[in-house]
Amino acid sequence: MKLFRPYLLALPLTQGKALFGLNQDWLFQLADAPAPVKCADDAFPIDLSDKQCLGLSPALYAFDADSCGDACCSSSTCSVWQWCNGDDGDDCGDQSCWVGNIEQETDCQDQKGWLGGFQSELPPPPQPADDCDEDVMPECGQSFNDTAWRTLDIPHDFVVEGTVDQDKGDTSHGYLPVGSAWYRKHFTVSGDVKSELSYLQFEGIMGAIEIYLNGKFLISNPARYTPLRLDVTDLLAFGDDTENVLAVHVDGSDNDAWWYDGAGIYRTASIELLDRVHLANCGVYAPALVAGDIVPETEDSPATAKCQVPATVEIECLEDACEGLEYTLEFELTDGEGEVVTSGSVDTTLSGDDAVTTVAMDLGDVGSMKLWSIAHPSLYALKTSLIGSDGEVLDSSSVNFGCRKAIFDADNGFSLNDVPTKILGVANHQDLPGFGTAVPDSLQEHRVKAMQAFGSNAWRTAHNCPTSALLDATDKLGMLVWDENHHNGQTDEAITLVRRDRNHPSIIIWSICNEALCNADGNGNESPASMVAAQEIIDAYHSIDDKMNRPVSSNQNGWNTADTFLDLVGVDYAVETYDNVKDLIHNKPIISSETASSVSDRSEYINDNDAGIVIGYDTEAPSWGSTAEDAWGGVNVKNGQGILTRDFVSGGFTWTGWDYKGEPTPTSWPSVASHFGIVDSAGFWKDRTFWYKSWFDDEPELYLFPHWNWEEGEEVRMWSFSNYKEVELFVNGVSEGRKGMDVYSHVEWNVTFAAGGVEVRGYENVGDEEVAETFKIKTAGKPTKLRATIMDDVGTEGVGVDGLDIAKVKVEVLDANDVVVPVEEDAITVKFGITDNGVVVGTGNGNNFDHDPDVAMERNVYHGKVMAWIKADRKIVGVGEEIVVSVEAEGLEGDKIAVVVVDTKVRGVGEL
Ligand code: GAL
Repeated sequence: MKLFRPYLLALPLTQGKALFGLNQDWLFQLADAPAPVKCADDAFPIDLSDKQCLGLSPALYAFDADSCGDACCSSSTCSVWQWCNGDDGDDCGDQSCWVGNIEQETDCQDQKGWLGGFQSELPPPPQPADDCDEDVMPECGQSFNDTAWRTLDIPHDFVVEGTVDQDKGDTSHGYLPVGSAWYRKHFTVSGDVKSELSYLQFEGIMGAIEIYLNGKFLISNPARYTPLRLDVTDLLAFGDDTENVLAVHVDGSDNDAWWYDGAGIYRTASIELLDRVHLANCGVYAPALVAGDIVPETEDSPATAKCQVPATVEIECLEDACEGLEYTLEFELTDGEGEVVTSGSVDTTLSGDDAVTTVAMDLGDVGSMKLWSIAHPSLYALKTSLIGSDGEVLDSSSVNFGCRKAIFDADNGFSLNDVPTKILGVANHQDLPGFGTAVPDSLQEHRVKAMQAFGSNAWRTAHNCPTSALLDATDKLGMLVWDENHHNGQTDEAITLVRRDRNHPSIIIWSICNEALCNADGNGNESPASMVAAQEIIDAYHSIDDKMNRPVSSNQNGWNTADTFLDLVGVDYAVETYDNVKDLIHNKPIISSETASSVSDRSEYINDNDAGIVIGYDTEAPSWGSTAEDAWGGVNVKNGQGILTRDFVSGGFTWTGWDYKGEPTPTSWPSVASHFGIVDSAGFWKDRTFWYKSWFDDEPELYLFPHWNWEEGEEVRMWSFSNYKEVELFVNGVSEGRKGMDVYSHVEWNVTFAAGGVEVRGYENVGDEEVAETFKIKTAGKPTKLRATIMDDVGTEGVGVDGLDIAKVKVEVLDANDVVVPVEEDAITVKFGITDNGVVVGTGNGNNFDHDPDVAMERNVYHGKVMAWIKADRKIVGVGEEIVVSVEAEGLEGDKIAVVVVDTKVRGVGEL
């Protein structure tokens, strides 16, 4: 029997007889998009001109009224289409197509400018064929010749490999064209592990999909952010000479996201083999509850308290003759050092056929535990083994968990282990440059650490079930989590999420949905059906995670009523309403579920809509948003309402931590990415990042911007973000005045540029003589050379020989005195070179209006910086070798950096 922990299988670790990764050597081919369905002439008998129906979704690929109708005809759940021409005098807004389902045309209101149609009778949904029809679609067949296809490993996102194109792409994908593709995987499963049950698992595939195994149809169109587990017992072939062929068709053009969600098999895959009696998938629940006084944490040691661990495990017996069968469950609880805290066993008798038997583990008195916290994220592991009557281990599982006390209070906000703690959160989508949404599991810690670096302590998984590697990272690194379900009305999706995630101590809030995604039936978020659907998800969260007391919330202002069904009221922007919401809802805790949406670009100091550039001063936000200092500090808000100025607001989530592809705001093309991020998409800090560092973090902070490279005599607006009480600016050694720093705000001066240097001095107290800290900027000279370094420690200790780790190489343009040159007079293109044993996976520069491809061996510098992701070529590299990355640019001295290749035996990856 094989029992191992496959490091990169983010699926829950019910290990059964065997668990194999299915991530390597897929064959891949882009496919033609399916021909669009054309509507019959009489498809929409009811004319909806000059009527607006609410609760519809945008159809991204419709560019006129006809294609808008066709978009509706191609969906079996669409009864209405609406096209807005966007002409002068129209009230409907910009050119756009909206489709969806409404009950009756009288649900729509008069509004000028719309064209549209309604059909009251929906056509029956198409029934998928049982088998692959090779005449129609040869790629799904077992014998299809795919030898000429490209070989790749998953996770994979094929959209990010494209080139932006205003005509072929849409705003949500950052103008990267989205098509469809086939993935095929040939594999054998040894007869030695032949089992009674076999499951095929995908942690996430993005797009409308169809999956075939050995020519048999398995499934189409499941939810795209949710793990998928398919029973393939009757289809999987065993034996070294018998090949299995898995074929997956992915159509990325059908999506419901207004942000970049890529397309492809963008998370990991595996095969799990089980006996008919086994531990149920995600069936171990290990809640840990503080049951005594807490001994507070210190800088060096975690808080401790007596905890109870009322753990349960589900044994599943699929098939007959289960009733009365006897098994033993053995369990072992270990601490973070692997020391056994307690162990025991319980005998159990199965309750019935085709059924689940839930068994309480008697862990007895586990005594005092180290509590999980932001500063000391202490974890424990619970191992469970299912033992047959002859003593054989039939199945086993290991889950990490932690004990902590998380309380939301209507008046006093959030506390963790009895310490009042403001939730200083960031909301994030999933993508990184070069990877799109197929971010390797090994980079999830980097994504979290990059947020902690400016003082954030919480992450909202907007707007979907995250990859579980992210939650492993937040557990390990001490980051609180708002875990978000994608779509209201999909209770099964929420059930999968809560069963999979309930043991993660970092998760403190369950969320039902976000804004438009809370609309369950197309009739609006407040429609009776949407409310019933939301209640169903609340009930699922409460019953499946019935011990950890996690509140259920959502980012939906319409549900913040006096008698709200939410446990935690989520205020979506609307900073100026906190006091009113508190007056309205006395007895429920409140959080700012989404805030800010400030927009800025790194090292840009003008707004230029035509070029897609947003100024970097934290002065810009869309109509619904606010600057960082207003949203968090209430600086220019009525009565100073802000997250940090109101104790009853538990905290908040800035939209967003990282810049992401798509949803370019405030202007679209030529802008191709969001400008909301506190850091840019490559992870470089913007000026605005320092506002967060100053006020999210207790450490002294002093920062001055912009750079000091201007035209002689030019007026420059200098800002300082700092938490010192007073800050003084010097231009070429002459004081421009000392100013008091208002809490949660900034100070600014207008000065005249003269080459040389500029600096700010920070004073701890008003009137201090002594300077506590100085921050200087020098005028940079002409670029002369490149400097390559490992960025953010990603790869400092090397990369794994299995190709799963990534190193992040930062390249900076320097002048002769090693000062980073912050402005490019002409484009500087850095060319990356790499030895055969390594691969440049992709590049990024944080430029939100850059149209060059991410997946390439060269990239333009943006304000002195560019980065690349590097990995080992697992097929040829050896442990101990060095991967050498060289960087060159015309007219500049190049540089080189070596990344060492390390062993990864510890992962125990078993791939088919
Ligand atoms: C919110 C929405 C986000 C994003 C953001 C931009 O309303 O929840 O998904 O669109 O606006 O400001």
